[in-house]
Amino acid sequence: PRTPTLEIDGTRYNIDDWTNVPSSILSYLPRKLQLQPSHPVSITRQVIESNFPSPTYTHYNDLHPVVTVAENFDSLGFPKDHPGRSRTDTYYINKDTVLRTHTSAHEAKIFRDNKSEGYTISADVYRRDAIDRSHYPVFHQMEGARTWDRRKVPGGNIAKAVWTDLVKLPRHSLSIEDPNPTTHAERNPLQTEHHSPEEVEAIAAHLKRSLEGVVIELFSRVQKTTGAVGHVNANAWEPLRVRWIEAYFPFTSPSWELEVFWQGDWLELLGCGVTKQDVLINAGVPDQVGWAFGVGLERVAMLLFSIPDIRLFWSKDSRFLKQFSNKENVNTFVPFSRYPECYKDVSFWLRSSGSSAGGGMRSNAQDFHENDVMEIVRDVGSDLIEAVKLVDDFVHPVSGRKSLCYRINYRSLERTLRNEEVNQLHENVRKQLVEQLGVELR
Ligand code: PHE
Repeated sequence: PRTPTLEIDGTRYNIDDWTNVPSSILSYLPRKLQLQPSHPVSITRQVIESNFPSPTYTHYNDLHPVVTVAENFDSLGFPKDHPGRSRTDTYYINKDTVLRTHTSAHEAKIFRDNKSEGYTISADVYRRDAIDRSHYPVFHQMEGARTWDRRKVPGGNIAKAVWTDLVKLPRHSLSIEDPNPTTHAERNPLQTEHHSPEEVEAIAAHLKRSLEGVVIELFSRVQKTTGAVGHVNANAWEPLRVRWIEAYFPFTSPSWELEVFWQGDWLELLGCGVTKQDVLINAGVPDQVGWAFGVGLERVAMLLFSIPDIRLFWSKDSRFLKQFSNKENVNTFVPFSRYPECYKDVSFWLRSSGSSAGGGMRSNAQDFHENDVMEIVRDVGSDLIEAVKLVDDFVHPVSGRKSLCYRINYRSLERTLRNEEVNQLHENVRKQLVEQLGVELR
């Protein structure tokens, strides 16, 4: 018998036990919002890109989202048991092939090609996740990296070359909170075999200055008329507050996140760090040393344009799209009236652990993962689902069986839903939960 296959953009992939990518997700591949003129994702991309000019930086904006497990995880040093590799978090085409979960999947190849000292990549990325106003299984990231070549500097010490490049960056006067030392022996270690402390100081300074420049550039477009960088919160002017905190990524060390204070909370904008030398060695460029960052474009665009719901980015409604045309002065998105929401609950029993009835089902209590529910709901309701959340959870005192109740909010961003339409969607959700997960409805 022939091996079953899946065709994506003209290429056939074998499917196997690992395959979990639904066709509803594949339908996002052609959208490429990062390239759509006058789309907020694309405008945000262009503003950030302008801080990383060519020819120093090459801009890649149309790399294909199907990548190997080796590219997405192994080449970046993800441990074999990293949770990001699990089928509950990642869309697998087959056991060796995934939809990229981050733009870093392309790092090794671009380092290997070694076309320029730096690059940016903007692209759609895919992650199985919960559903709410700020999470969507497809979103866009922009990655940037910069390297220096030891062979091109006297004695192979790149520190001086990096400082020389740093003073060419635009100056800014914003005071940035940066309380931690550049390296910390346990939490944020120097790669002692590969870098001297002075090299890491220089790389970290160049990285941080470059990204601070991006944040200032972005936020100076909000409320441009006032001259200062900041925003209005509860009718009061708040100057922009930015801070660096320590972070962890398998492919950088030391690593940081940049946060901005936004309407009362610290909000993570991007992750970055000094590129792990093993990534560069494995990419065949052992003499290159440098930094990398990754930023979520929707996250930034939602702040810049005051877009309240991440689903709007996918809207084809002209009331959304026509609002974004001018990338010089970021305008505040004016929400069109919200249509009524309608919520419905679904309650079901998971099968008790150890039960083997209905083989192949995933509702055994120990195998159950909430993302499977999220995906079924999304597959049935696509953009008519606003949120899904667990509202009740208990274990039967006698049988030991576990019962869950999820509340599903149905709402369209573009029109009022009809009752019978919602009923039909909900009936279908119930049916698919039974068919795909083998749960017992209550
Ligand atoms: N790829 C990381 C993420 O998706 C972001 C990142 C990129 C961090 C490059 C460090 C360097 O979270």
